[in-house]
Amino acid sequence: MTLCVAIDGPSGAGKSTVGHALAQRIGATFVDTGLMYRALTLAALERGVDPDDGPALGDLAGTCEIEVERPGPEHPDRLETVRLDGRDVTDAVRTPTVDRAVSAVSRHAEVREAMLPVQRAAAFRHDTVMVGRDIGTVVLPDATLKVYLVAAAAVRAGRRAAEMGAPERYEEYLAEILRRDTADSGRELAPLRQAEGAIVLDTGVLDVEGCVAVIVERLEAMGA
Ligand code: DC
Repeated sequence: MTLCVAIDGPSGAGKSTVGHALAQRIGATFVDTGLMYRALTLAALERGVDPDDGPALGDLAGTCEIEVERPGPEHPDRLETVRLDGRDVTDAVRTPTVDRAVSAVSRHAEVREAMLPVQRAAAFRHDTVMVGRDIGTVVLPDATLKVYLVAAAAVRAGRRAAEMGAPERYEEYLAEILRRDTADSGRELAPLRQAEGAIVLDTGVLDVEGCVAVIVERLEAMGA
């Protein structure tokens, strides 16, 4: 049985940063499932598939190849590389256009059904830290440990503005974060929820190392 840590939480809570640091610390593979939905969204935008057309998006998911892999040495700044039909789309999936469409794409049953086996297979192959919105609730309900990362919307927007070097766009980032929170928590299928038994960590209170330390301590206490 592989070890798997499921990390869920809203946009900008720091799931990727904490998840990646944790994976490095415990020697696990890091999988950011948000990148998979982003790559599918990019494919839909490029091929003119309507983000509201679930069946067409399900077909698209079945025909395009999405791979999330460890970045090569030429990309020391990246946590992961994502490929769409072999093409490196890591930068292209982070554009505002994809940001705006990804919640619509990811809410369809056909899309989630296509992603589920790929995500589960990754966790059964290696020890894994998997981050997303529904990992502890739907994808890996038997995960070794479930973590729910939170931070106040104002903290998340402030961090985003600092990361982008654009403090004047704080209000815009805040609005986008609140819009995604509502979309991700309010959708019918696999909404963002704290999984039963999850430990809750606030990244506005604990820094990355602090979060990793709590998680590692908990894993050790479980004998995992
Ligand atoms: O984590 P992120 O912001 O890159 O995720 C992009 C979108 O993908 C997010 O708005 C909701 C969706 N998503 C999802 O529905 N389920 C997941 N497990 C991960 C992401």
